[in-house]
Amino acid sequence: MEIDVQMTFAESGARWIRACAVDDVEDDEAVRLGTQPPVTVFRSEGEFFCIDDTCTHETYSLSEGWVENCLVECTLHMAKFDLRTGRPLSPPARSPVRVHQLRVEDGSVFVQLPNDYTCDD
Ligand code: FES
Repeated sequence: MEIDVQMTFAESGARWIRACAVDDVEDDEAVRLGTQPPVTVFRSEGEFFCIDDTCTHETYSLSEGWVENCLVECTLHMAKFDLRTGRPLSPPARSPVRVHQLRVEDGSVFVQLPNDYTCDD
């Protein structure tokens, strides 16, 4: 599932974006945001995570991957990434995916994105 980003606001110079509602993401599922480059919010073991959506092995969406135990497995060539650190845990991927700060407030998930990431807001 991909959803549009709905709101932005600044806090201490950081660019926080409302990504989705907590209920939009089931456990061991993912929601890709309509940003450039794309990022994905994952939920696993009751926690939320946000990482770049594109696998570092080839250009493939990690939002399509298998999610379990705070890991995502790319469905194209089965590289696994730690959702907490972005580190690759199995080949063929060798480079980490970028991890983004996330917080949950009042039933919404907010993510902090670098200034060069764009969204339709
Ligand atoms: S594209 Fe993800 S493992 Fe190859």
